[in-house]
Amino acid sequence: MHDVDRVTLPVLDERRARQSGAPSGFTTPADPLRDRFERSIRYLRVSVTDRCNFACTYCVPDDGVAHKRKAELCTFEELERIVGVFAGLGVRRLRLTGGEPTVRADFVDLVARLRRVPGIEEVVITTNGHLLAALAGPLVAAGLAGANVSIDTLDPARFAALTSGGDLARVIAGIDAARAAGLEVKLNAVALAGVNDAELAALCEFAWERGLVMRFIEHMPLSSGSLYEATRELSAAAIRKTIARAFGALEPSTVDRGIAGPARYWRLAARPERELGIISAMTEHFCAACNRVRLTADGQLHACLGHDDAVNLRDVVRGGGSDDDLRRAIAWSVQGKREGHEFQRTGDGAPTKHMIAMGG
Ligand code: GTP
Ligand code: 5AD
Ligand code: SF4
Repeated sequence: MHDVDRVTLPVLDERRARQSGAPSGFTTPADPLRDRFERSIRYLRVSVTDRCNFACTYCVPDDGVAHKRKAELCTFEELERIVGVFAGLGVRRLRLTGGEPTVRADFVDLVARLRRVPGIEEVVITTNGHLLAALAGPLVAAGLAGANVSIDTLDPARFAALTSGGDLARVIAGIDAARAAGLEVKLNAVALAGVNDAELAALCEFAWERGLVMRFIEHMPLSSGSLYEATRELSAAAIRKTIARAFGALEPSTVDRGIAGPARYWRLAARPERELGIISAMTEHFCAACNRVRLTADGQLHACLGHDDAVNLRDVVRGGGSDDDLRRAIAWSVQGKREGHEFQRTGDGAPTKHMIAMGG
């Protein structure tokens, strides 16, 4: 626990963590999306389902996770309302995640509806790509701007094992369809020693052949640390070293990516058009620059991926709350946003929540 969290309430403690709104003494601050550490929230991640058509070994515990019932999920109307309030407060970029977002019924309609929310300038998704070949065209027509697609290995058998049955060829077809349809595509791989560490250069080449950026993600311990193995850690420094050994020196990218997530981007000194990103929550963490919060499919607002604290906005809506009530609940959550996660490189400090329900 950070000292500042102990002395400067409001912070969400265990007892308050799952309540649906702010306590009576709490007054909404002038800028509800500015937190106690001077960070401004401009980026909302919305998990639209906690279900997935894959079950990646680093994401889903062996005994699975309990899924929400349909009635517990926010309806499209509820999502539009909540997103509208966020947009009114200054959120401009929306990333739809899952589980796997494309398995939510009528997902294309949802994209179209959220794209039309006044103030929202960009709607993008994070997907495993399995359904993308068929959906890329309709999603672009609905106003989708981009897709981050997971591809952890280029070996079909390893891909099937890692994802519990995923078809690599189908995902590659999805990536190519997304590019052809005009989506801005980036590729994600969770980098794990003994799993895909020998493939980092090949994954970069796969991306670069297509004019794309490959991003490597350090594995983060969620699910109480149960899926985390410190011996599998591949640090950002080790990743950079491997890439530099294969392709020569790296230098920081100078591309302005606007409102963006935590990846730090690099380019090959010898081929500056070839870029890669590294998302290093464990060894070079980026919490001081955090600009985002996440909404789960059942309407819980999580101000940080690394803590279980949440405020349920769906309950505010279903309880007949006004937009002011929503703003107050959002402000309460943002004011409680911790200074940073407490993921330890041993897996200690992991939240109990599961990545599949958070959408990354
Ligand atoms: P863009 O920069 O807009 O492309 O988004 P992104 O990279 O944030 O989105 P994506 O869903 O592709 O996430 C990539 C990885 O970054 C996932 O493993 C996320 O869990 C991780 N990530 C995104 N935001 C945060 C964050 O605030 N904290 C931590 N610890 N990890 C994050
Ligand atoms: N740590 C880091 N990244 C993860 N992802 C899933 N689980 C984890 C984890 N524990 C990745 C997915 C996807 C993105 C949303 O998050 O592979 O690329
Ligand atoms: Fe894998 Fe993403 Fe599904 Fe998790 S949500 S099991 S990372 S495809």
